[in-house]
Amino acid sequence: MSKHNPNRKTYWLETYGCQMNKAESGFLEHELQQHGWIAAQSPADAEAVILNTCSVRKTAEDRIWGRLGFFKSQKKKHSFRLVLLGCMSERLKEEVLNEAPHVDLLVGNFQKHRLVDVLEREDEVPAGSPGDELPFARRARQEAQLVDPGEYRFAERHSLSGFQAFVPIMHGCNNFCTYCIVPYVRGSEVSRSPETILAEIHRLQSPSDLSEQAVREITLLGQNVNSYRYRDQGGATVSFPALLRTILPELRYRTWLRFLTSHPKDMSGELIELIAAEPALCRHIHLPVQHGSDRILEAMGRKYTRSRYLDLVELIRKTIPEVSLTTDILIGFPGESEEDFRLILELMEQVRFEDAFTYRYNPREGTKAFELGDDVPEAVKQERLRQVIDLQRQITRYGKKRKIGKVVEVLIEGVSKKNPEELLARTEGDDMVVFPGSPQRIGRFIRVRLDTLQGSTFRAVPIVEEGSS
Ligand code: SAM
Ligand code: SF4
Ligand code: F3S
Repeated sequence: MSKHNPNRKTYWLETYGCQMNKAESGFLEHELQQHGWIAAQSPADAEAVILNTCSVRKTAEDRIWGRLGFFKSQKKKHSFRLVLLGCMSERLKEEVLNEAPHVDLLVGNFQKHRLVDVLEREDEVPAGSPGDELPFARRARQEAQLVDPGEYRFAERHSLSGFQAFVPIMHGCNNFCTYCIVPYVRGSEVSRSPETILAEIHRLQSPSDLSEQAVREITLLGQNVNSYRYRDQGGATVSFPALLRTILPELRYRTWLRFLTSHPKDMSGELIELIAAEPALCRHIHLPVQHGSDRILEAMGRKYTRSRYLDLVELIRKTIPEVSLTTDILIGFPGESEEDFRLILELMEQVRFEDAFTYRYNPREGTKAFELGDDVPEAVKQERLRQVIDLQRQITRYGKKRKIGKVVEVLIEGVSKKNPEELLARTEGDDMVVFPGSPQRIGRFIRVRLDTLQGSTFRAVPIVEEGSS
């Protein structure tokens, strides 16, 4: 049986799900390392194997159940503690305790920040004490108490690499779209204070030693950033556009500021005008539409109609002509008829999104839509999804081809995996670009001319390199 060895503080961390989970994992790794933990080369070398989990779809949970099965067999050969963190710990606490007794610790979203404390607490149990003899399944039951909601602590200081960072600005969701589990596993919306957001951005742009790079791309995170609202001490409310206006003048260096996700019902004209006016705000808006049929949009509880969404798109495109619009589409919601489905395809043709994330509906127990059953047969869902993906591929490709010959600014992200002589970069609209260049320029902006399209990646030629550093 596994046992905590305080002299072997090594961890293996796997992250599933959304950017919020990635941000939190970054924060946890930072915390672990601050307390002397080091990343293991493989799960077999780790003292703690940690899975930061997602419950949004069954496919996500199935993958994690698969990993739990794998780690069960690994545990027979290697000694490590298995820790389940996050959304699945919230949703399936009892099931995990009953069906996966080899999970040693369960930690929910509101206790994630206590991970190090939880891992190290066992040091306090002297060897041979009654606590030390507890079977691990029972330990898991004890730790499961930790899932009780406490105060959520925002993840801090996570760099994707040295020059890109996620900054959570709000947590939770009050929208309760009828298909979605997120409000149940993340709780009600909480907005983070502008002061702590700004302090973090200052930190991210002030490297503490010469080997570190200042952050050049910041993505503000929330399930619905447009409903960001912070009540300051004077009782005044800070809205999302007001928060952006506070952040923008504080950015040092040339920086791209992005945000995820925007709910169409709360997207204001004020925000759209701000994006048009401010070069630091990326002209890329991820605006999940989910569906094209009013009947289904209503049943989903999205609180907008097809025509309101289309009006919003028209306003965005008129105000920000170069904007890149991406979306989420959810097919197979209960009761979706052929006619409803046709309306999705029509909407896609009308809007011509730059790209779309497409999903097949999965009933989630506890949500309102769960009570409606799951009446679109799996084969029909698959066929509809195929049509949506095919159509979006054509639209994406057509849109990309029209960009050939354009000169655009890109942020260099790394060396191309296919050719070490080439660099991989991204445009503000999220297009991938490769061109010849030296790795010294990673983390810098550069202007390139888009020359040809290879698959979904542009080949480009560098034009003028900005002297920013
Ligand atoms: N807050 C974002 C919004 O309002 O669009 C979405 C966050 S959710 C983590 C990401 C996407 O997962 C959603 O846009 C939706 O398309 C998809 N999704 C949510 N619940 C789902 C379910 N039960 N089955 C399949 N896909 C789902
Ligand atoms: Fe889920 Fe809707 Fe909240 Fe997005 S806005 S997280 S889809 S409930
Ligand atoms: Fe998944 Fe939880 Fe994010 S359910 S999508 S990891 S909020």
